[in-house]
Amino acid sequence: MDKLAIIGGRPLFGEIAISGAKNSALKVMAASLLSDEALTLHNVPRLADVDMLLRLLAQHGVDASFEGSTLRLNAKTITSTLAPYDLVRKMRASFNVLGPLLAREGAAKVSLPGGCAIGARPVDLHLKALEAMGASVALDEGYVIAEAPSGLHGAEIAFPFVSVGATEHTMLAAVLARGETVIENAAREPEIADLADCLNAMGADISGAGGTTIRVTGVDRLHTAEHRVLPDRIETGAYMMAVGVAGGELTLTETRGELLGAALPALEETGLHIEETETGLRIRKTTDRLHAMDIVTEPFPGFPTDLQAQFMAMMATAEGVSTIKETIFENRFMHAPELSRMGAQISVDGETATVRGVERLKGAPVMATDLRASMSLVIAALGAEGQTMVNRVYHLDRGFERLEEKLAQCGALIERVKE
Ligand code: UD1
Repeated sequence: MDKLAIIGGRPLFGEIAISGAKNSALKVMAASLLSDEALTLHNVPRLADVDMLLRLLAQHGVDASFEGSTLRLNAKTITSTLAPYDLVRKMRASFNVLGPLLAREGAAKVSLPGGCAIGARPVDLHLKALEAMGASVALDEGYVIAEAPSGLHGAEIAFPFVSVGATEHTMLAAVLARGETVIENAAREPEIADLADCLNAMGADISGAGGTTIRVTGVDRLHTAEHRVLPDRIETGAYMMAVGVAGGELTLTETRGELLGAALPALEETGLHIEETETGLRIRKTTDRLHAMDIVTEPFPGFPTDLQAQFMAMMATAEGVSTIKETIFENRFMHAPELSRMGAQISVDGETATVRGVERLKGAPVMATDLRASMSLVIAALGAEGQTMVNRVYHLDRGFERLEEKLAQCGALIERVKE
């Protein structure tokens, strides 16, 4: 298993091009199953999760070819409606093939998903939405068996709480359903509007995506389209926080500040100067030590749970005491003990972590536990004294494109150690 060796204490200067959003790319890739014509996607990040979904799509009969960051997908014929355990268990987003397969083929058998170990993460809302659209759903030996032999129909779906995956899954299934589907209490993450844009380019009729009520009027078929995946807001925020820890000045290109929601003003309050440029954002640390700051994770436009771990790493050396409340996932503080190994003073009580900023962290061997937690260890290491060895880098390869290359070109001492 590869490791990352990082020697801290070097400020970051230079430019980093932000990649397309992983969480959007995976959903628009699943959308390719809805049409027998080609879907061309631009700005697709080359990540382990993308490769994993391509393997699953290939098993359903989808032809795929990459040229740079452009991915051409063609689901002319669906050869199998089975999504096997081995291909779904590693990544939760794979579960989103269920809706499209059901909508197009009238039946699908999809393994219950895996993904990062950050909580229970059930799929009950996904299944209830499909049932409301007329599917029969049964669970058998870890598989969801769904059937809708005469097609799905429109439905009124009011989610009891906000779910990104369930909102996307419902949209993916509803585009080919008969009649109108109304999704209430929809997630408003930027990736939702991105998926709607892609589906509309394919001929779907979706309005309101990005707001709390989304309306989908079913159409008979979708056609060929091109779509550019939006920038990765989590990668954007992570590199901003790297500046917060390491110091220096970074220009992040091909991204936008508004994608960050509440994270942008929060980062500014800690002492980062953030400027919008024509092509992205420029970030500079304005004080020697950042100020402590309290945050609560919330659905978009609140502070994203996917930036919580990185924020904790940044607060580990801020001046003062910060509290970090995680309201989305119940088991998402696994990075706290790892950061503590580097000298951070963190105590966790239920859904709240209290971080007492120390002057400096010390390099140590640490273990990446999930995708975003891994990035928090990298960020902490960039400011720590001496060498940090981050084990289990495969988590990072799932979600951060060319991480060590992007950081090294800005002056970080970071190296992959192959094993
Ligand atoms: C997506 C993102 C993930 C991000 C999360 C929240 C992808 C591939 N992943 O995950 O990076 O952290 O949004 O912004 O896009 N829940 C249920 N039942 C359901 C569905 C969800 O109880 O049927 C719960 C989850 O356990 C969690 C909460 O709802 O506690 C929110 O989860 P959700 O928004 O669905 O996250 P994902 O789509 O899995």
